[in-house]
Amino acid sequence: MLEVRDLEVAYGSITALHRISLRVEKGKIITLIGSNGAGKSTTLRAISGLLRIRGGEVWLDGKQITNLAPHLIVALGITQVPEGRMIFPNLTVIENLQMGAYRRKGNLKADYEYVYSIFPILGEREKQVAGTLSGGEQQMLAISRALMSKPTFLMLDEPSLGIAPLLVRTIFEKILEINRQLGITILLVEQNANLALEIADYGYVLETGRVILEDRSEHLRTNSIVRESYLGGA
Ligand SMILES: Nc1ncnc2c1ncn2[C@@H]1O[C@H](COP(=O)(O)OP(=O)(O)OP(=O)(O)O)[C@@H](O)[C@H]1O
Ligand SMILES: [Mg+2]
Repeated sequence: MLEVRDLEVAYGSITALHRISLRVEKGKIITLIGSNGAGKSTTLRAISGLLRIRGGEVWLDGKQITNLAPHLIVALGITQVPEGRMIFPNLTVIENLQMGAYRRKGNLKADYEYVYSIFPILGEREKQVAGTLSGGEQQMLAISRALMSKPTFLMLDEPSLGIAPLLVRTIFEKILEINRQLGITILLVEQNANLALEIADYGYVLETGRVILEDRSEHLRTNSIVRESYLGGA
């Protein structure tokens, strides 16, 4: 579905991605794991069209989308949930959901019902101002807002960041549910390699802007480099 070939991105004279290549198969969950500064967010932002790609290509369903404008990339079905969630704190839950659907016409009732079935707490807090939600609830809202644009390809940037461990597990279970129920292909960026590899089909390990390993998740979980560096030696 999505293919990244020899992607190169730089911030000024500093190269952040050194020709990385990724393949994301339709309907799967793919994870990109790596430590702080490895280039995970840079990869997602380049795919979304938010950063200029200096070298390499991005293909979606056989169509080249390299350096296309972000709104055109969204229109093709790619939606990103950014790191730090970036919900609208002064708008209510339902207003945030509406913003996610701004490109769409027609009745959104079934869509609200779907996201509330996945995250019932959001239904209960429909009229609450989003900035007063807990970190975990805000993450649920950010994911739900992304779903309102009806993506076929969803990119999540560290959904576990700053969230209580118990809620993190719930959110990961919901990501899996969304993938299975809606058939949405997911690219999941995470520092929490343990959980990411639990729900992903396939994973890539990024280190200082290079893919150093890739394999099926169950193989990565037993890989000694991954265990030492990303699974706390467990
Ligand atoms: N706006 C920017 N200007 C200059 N350098 C940047 C900028 N954003 C990121 N970088 C650099 O690019 C590299 C990759 O950063 P990136 O944010 O993609 O990492 P990451 O894997 O998402 O890390 P984290 O887990 O901390 O979010 C880092 O060395 C970072 O310092
Ligand atoms: Mg990041």
